[in-house]
Amino acid sequence: MGLLEKRLKKANRYIADNSKITAEMKWRQRYHFMAPVGWMNDPNGLIEWGGAYHLFYQFNPYSSKWGAMYWGHAISKDLCHWEHMPAALAPSEKYDDWEGGGCFSGSAVNLEGKLALIYTGTSNTAEGVCQVQCLAESQDGLHFQKYKGNPVISSYPDCAGRDFRDPKVWRHGDLWYLVCGSGKNGKGMALLYRSTNLVKWEFVNVLAESDGTLGYMWECPDFFEVDGLAVLTFSPMGAGEHQSVYLAGTVDYETGRLREEFRGDIDCGLDYYAPQSFLDHAGRRILIGWANGWEWMPWFTDFGAAQEEGWCGHLAIPREVRFKRDGKLRFIPVEEMEALRHQNWHLDRFWLTAADGKKKIVAGDGIHSEIFLLLDLKNTSAKKIIMELRKTPDDTASSTADEKRVTFLIVDLETRLVSLDRGQSDGKRKGICSGQFRKDQERLDIRIFLDSCSVEVFADDYCLNMSVNIYSEEDDREITLHTVDGSAAVEALDTWSIAL
Ligand code: FRU
Repeated sequence: MGLLEKRLKKANRYIADNSKITAEMKWRQRYHFMAPVGWMNDPNGLIEWGGAYHLFYQFNPYSSKWGAMYWGHAISKDLCHWEHMPAALAPSEKYDDWEGGGCFSGSAVNLEGKLALIYTGTSNTAEGVCQVQCLAESQDGLHFQKYKGNPVISSYPDCAGRDFRDPKVWRHGDLWYLVCGSGKNGKGMALLYRSTNLVKWEFVNVLAESDGTLGYMWECPDFFEVDGLAVLTFSPMGAGEHQSVYLAGTVDYETGRLREEFRGDIDCGLDYYAPQSFLDHAGRRILIGWANGWEWMPWFTDFGAAQEEGWCGHLAIPREVRFKRDGKLRFIPVEEMEALRHQNWHLDRFWLTAADGKKKIVAGDGIHSEIFLLLDLKNTSAKKIIMELRKTPDDTASSTADEKRVTFLIVDLETRLVSLDRGQSDGKRKGICSGQFRKDQERLDIRIFLDSCSVEVFADDYCLNMSVNIYSEEDDREITLHTVDGSAAVEALDTWSIAL
C-alpha cells in the first residue's frame, strides 16, 4: 500500500471513530454543509459527475485547527442533503507532503468519463515554500490516483510570485483552460493557462490583475460565463473589507485578457471566502463559498466557539449566479432550499410605526429559520428599520443587561446601507459589515437564513449579500422588528422553520 492509501485509510478510520461525537456538539449547523469531524475551509472540485453533485473541501480531519491539507469529499442529489464519502486526497508525495501545506485548493473536470482533480501541491524546499499544480484521477469517483508525472505545472511565470495556487479548470472549445492565483510587487493577479490534455500546460497571459485596490494576492480564482458575460471571481488578500470579489466583462481567449466592465462583491459579510462555481445539468452556474475568514482579515478575532468543540468550518448556502444586464450580479440561494421550509408564518401588508415598539416575529424556533421581508420604500418615512435577531428574551432570569445578546440587521434608508452588526451577538466576536442597496428602488427585499451559528442575508434582489457567524446561546431566539424616526410600510413578511 502506498503512502496515499495508508494516510487515507488512517484518516477514514479516525473520521468513522469520531464523527458521532462531533455530531452531538452544540454549535453544529442544521442545514449548512460541515465536515464530519475536524477543520474545513475552501470548497474544492465542485462538479456534477456520475449523476450526483460532488463537493470536495480543504480538510484537516485530526484537529479543529488548520493543518496539513487533505481533500474531504461529499455527494448530494439536491445540494442540501450531503452524504460524506471517504477522504479523497492526502499529502503523500514530495511535492505535496508538508505539515504546513499539503493538498491545497483546486477544481474538478470530467476527463473522458474519469473524474480529474487539479490541485496545488505545497511543499517546503531549500528555497522555501513551493507551490505547484498537480493532477489526480479516478474511475469510480471515490478512489483517486495522483498522476505519476506530477507536477503538471512546476513553476510560476516571471510575471508572478511564489504564491501560486488554487487552479480552476474549465473547457472552452477544443482546449482546457486553467486560472491560478498569484501576486507580485503587492498586486494580486489571475494567471491563465491552456492545455490539450490537462498534463502539458502553456501560460497564456495574466487574465487580470489588481489596479492597486484589490490586494496583493488573489486566492481561489474562478472563471465562467453567465448569461453572456465573462466573470472572474477571487478572494483577494489585503483588500480591506473585500474578501470575495467579481470582475465582469468580456474575455479574449487569444490574448488571454479580461476586459472589465464592472465589478462587485459576491458577499460583503465577515465570513465568506474562497467561493468556487460549477455548471449543473440544468445550465445553472452554482457558487459555493466557505463561511469563515482568516486571521489576516482586519476584523478577525477567532474562528469561533465551534473550534473549542473540536470542529470548525461550514459552507454557505449554494447560490445560483445570474446576470440581468444592469451592472450587477445576483447570487440567489438555489431553489432546492425552498424544500427545506416547514411551518410558515405570514403577515400581509402592515404599517410599522415608532409607537408600535418592537414587533415580535415568529420564525420557527428563532434559530433555524428563514425570514423574507419586503419593504415598500415609497411609503416608508422611517430613517431606519431594525430587525433584532438571536436576541436573549427579556424574561430570561439569569440575564443582566450585559449578559444579553442580540444581532442587529439595520436598514438605513438615508444612506441606503444594509448592515449586520454582531458586536453584541456573543460577547466575543466583534464586527459590523454593510453594503449599499441600489438607488431609486420602489421596494427592498431582504431574505435571511439563520442556522445554529450563522446569519446569511440576501438583499436588493440578491445583489447585496452578507454572511456572518455568531455564537449566540440557545436561549437567544427572539426576533423583533422596529423603526426609528417614522413609519415603515411592510409589504409582506414571511417566515419558515427550516429542517433537512
Ligand atoms: C484560501 C486558501 C487557499 C489555499 C487553501 C489552503 O482559503 O488559503 O489559497 O489553497 O486555503 O487550505
